[in-house]
Formats: sequence, C-alpha cells, structure tokens
Amino acid sequence: MTDNPYDSVPYPTRPRNETHPDRLAAVGTLFGMRPAPVAACRVLEIGCGDGGNVVPVAYGLPESQVTGVDLATDAIASARRMAAELNLENIRLVAGDLRDVGPEYGEFDYIIAHGVYSWVPADARDALLRICAARLPAQGIAFISYNTYPGRHLRQMLREMMRYHTRSTADAARRMERARSFLHTLAEGRLAPPAWRGLLEEETRLLLEKDAGSFWHDDLAPVNDPVYFHEFTAHAAAHGLQYLGEADAHLMFDPRRAAGVEADDPIEREQELDFLRCRRFRQTLLCRSGIVLDRDPDSARMSRFLFAAPARRLAGGEIEGLNGIRIAPGHAELEGIVGALGDSYPLPLPFDDLLPYASGPEALAEILFALARSGFATFHIHDFPCEETVTARPRASALARWQAARSSLVSSACHTPVELEEADLRLLRLLDGSRDQEGLACACGFDPREALTWFARMGLLEG
Ligand SMILES: C[S@@+](CC[C@H](N)C(=O)[O-])C[C@H]1O[C@@H](n2cnc3c(N)ncnc32)[C@H](O)[C@@H]1O
Repeated sequence: MTDNPYDSVPYPTRPRNETHPDRLAAVGTLFGMRPAPVAACRVLEIGCGDGGNVVPVAYGLPESQVTGVDLATDAIASARRMAAELNLENIRLVAGDLRDVGPEYGEFDYIIAHGVYSWVPADARDALLRICAARLPAQGIAFISYNTYPGRHLRQMLREMMRYHTRSTADAARRMERARSFLHTLAEGRLAPPAWRGLLEEETRLLLEKDAGSFWHDDLAPVNDPVYFHEFTAHAAAHGLQYLGEADAHLMFDPRRAAGVEADDPIEREQELDFLRCRRFRQTLLCRSGIVLDRDPDSARMSRFLFAAPARRLAGGEIEGLNGIRIAPGHAELEGIVGALGDSYPLPLPFDDLLPYASGPEALAEILFALARSGFATFHIHDFPCEETVTARPRASALARWQAARSSLVSSACHTPVELEEADLRLLRLLDGSRDQEGLACACGFDPREALTWFARMGLLEG
C-alpha cells in the first residue's frame, strides 16, 4: 500500500450534512430523479478518514448498508473503534487505496467523496470518477467536493510561497511553524502594494486560524489541485457522468439575475456564476449521463419535500434564516410558516405539517420554493426519526453520548452539528435511559428540565 501523509498528521473528520444521502436525494428529486429511499440505501464514502461523517450516517440509517474506505490505516482503525463501540453492524470500513475499489464492493445508491478530488494525484482523481461511473446504479448520485478557480488563486499563491519558504524542513510540526511565521511576516510586513494588503490580511488570518490537520493537508501537502468548474464537468463527462447540481442547491438559483449570466446551458451558467462570485470551493453532485433531468423545477414539486430553517427575529424586525438570508416583517402568512420552521429547527417539517400556516397548498408551495431557493431554508426528503418530547427516563442517542465523551460537538438526528457547553455535555453523557429527572438532577448537580427540553428540540433524544 502507498505511504499516506494522513497517517503521520491526522485529519479529524466530522458530520457534514451536505454529504448526507438525504441531501443528495433531495437535490436529485428536485431535478426530476427518482433516488433510492434514504432510510434503506447503500452508501459508500471514499476518503472517510477516521469516520467522523460515515459512522454517524450508518448510525442514523440502521436499515442502510454503509461502506467507508480510506488509505490511512490509523484513521480507519479509529473509525472501526467508533463503529464497534456504537455496536453498528451495517458498516464496513476498509483500509485501502481508492484506486483498488472494484466490482467486489458492489453498487451504491450514494457515493460521497468530500475533500478528496483536489487532494489526490491525477490518476486517483480518474479512479474516483471511474468508481462513480461503475458503482452507481441508474438513479445513483455521487457527491464530490473540490477546490475551484478563480477563487482559489489567492490561496494557491500563498500555498506556493509557503511550500517554497519551508522546502528544506522535513518535520511536519516544524514546517507548519515556519509557514505560520512566514504568514505573519507577509501580513505584518506590509511590503505588498496597497491593493493586495486587505486580501492578504484576510487570507493569512483564515490560514492562521486553521487546525494542524487542515493546514498541513490543505495548504502544505504536495497535492492540492483546484480546477475550473467546466474542467471538472468535462472530466466527469469523459467518465459517463453528468452534472446534477450542487449539494447547496440554493447556489444554483440566482435570484438577483447577476449581470451577464444569460447562458441557458447549465454548465456555462454555473461557470459564469463562479467567475462573478470568485468561487473557491464546490460540492457537486453527479449522476449518470443518460439520466434525463428537469433543469427547470417549479413549486409544484414542493409537496414531496420536508423543509428546515432557523428563524431568528432580529432587532429591526427582520427574520434571519440559513446563510444569513433575511426576510422583511409584515407578511403574516410568510411569518407563520417561517415561525413554524424555526420552532422545529433543526428537525425538518413535512409540507403537510405547514399547510395550517398557509392560505392553501399552492401558496405554501410558492413560499417554500422561494425560501429554499434563496437559501433561507433547506429541502429534505428523509424524515429523521427521533424523540421530540422529554420522556420519564430520557435517553440521548448513543452517538451523541459517544461524541459528548470526546468533544463539545455532537450530532443531531438530522446529521447537523450541535455545540454543547460543559454542563450540557455532562448531562448528555448521563442520558442512557436509566435515570428519571430527579436522578439526573442529583447526578449532574443542576435542574435538567430546561436542557432536556432543548435536547429534545435539537434532535438529540431517542425513544
Ligand atoms: C482532506 S482529507 C478529507 C477527509 C474527509 N473526507 C473530510 O472531508 O473531512 C482526504 C482523505 O482522503 C484519504 N486518501 C488520500 N488518498 C487516498 C487514496 N488513494 N485512497 C483512499 N483514500 C485516500 C486520506 O487518507 C484522507 O483521509
């Protein structure tokens, strides 16, 4: 097996809800596909690392069969430990090179490769697309993230300078230290022309905030190859795959009709938008080339989806949802719908549950389509099961308890991260279903009622 730098500098992974089969199926359904039911599907994650994403997917979809593969043997050993401690029998974790993934792996309805395409050499990039073409069934969907030009140019410039500056240092920790010191000199030295300074300050600040794993593998590792979107889709097409959409589907809609983007061809249109947005990263979904897609979805399709959005009322009366998108006050029907979404968030609400807040199904469909297209809300297809009330002896998911014993970030039932403070982490770890509220108060040293209600709302409890 090839040497892998991820064995020497670990790259901790975490749940990414944009990679979840629910998201892939939602975007596929939006554009006219008939993806496999999420509750019982077959999932492959390539480059799954220490399992921070793939193991929670397997935990949340017990009727599904999940496979994770990664070249880093230490990372796979950690993922296997996590899966074993959670008693998962629906996951297979393979220490291996993606170039060796062949027919013996079987077919997968959903293939995920986050942080792999730009981070591996050209032959492995080819192999990644070859796997998607060979291992996806007709209605299968692949998620591939990659760095993109034009936005990534600035980071590439810094990366090249840091790699040159530290080229004689072999030790990873020492090399990162020297690279960070170089970034300080670059930002503080102010020798660059004034037009560069703001950009350099912002970019070096972002780099200096990074943890060792991503700084090393994203910015100092020998391979990190961004591409233009049109190059990526041409590469996919050469393997019999076509562009389905973005995992963040709202980015495909352009409510402001950005000047100059008149192209009807979806590839050309997305490429032009990348130029205007100086986009540096994409999370693209692919499907087989032969699939006929409906590129012009409308609100009539909305009754098939569930929707999720926080709804934070701001001081001026505006309501903020996801991606910083705000709506103005003064529209009672819209505010009722958004309020219901906010009360349920992060758990998604089915279309029918929102009907009481609208004047009729068509009006509701129009509003929800507008909310999801703008990025205020997300589309879902899967109703993530969890316990939404506080039972006599509350039980948190085994996954959240496992995570709470190791970090402050736990996963909700819908694969979203939930950040907890120390007291809440202590309480959550105690929620194995054996204690009533009095027992919990004794064990954790405070009245747990408020926190338990919040845990139920956040999708951390199970029935
Ligand atoms: C940048 S990390 C991304 C990890 C994770 N998917 C995430 O996004 O958090 C890249 C991962 O790909 C794995 N990898 C690199 N080359 C590989 C190969 N040829 N076959 C399988 N895995 C590989 C690395 O070991 C590492 O875990």
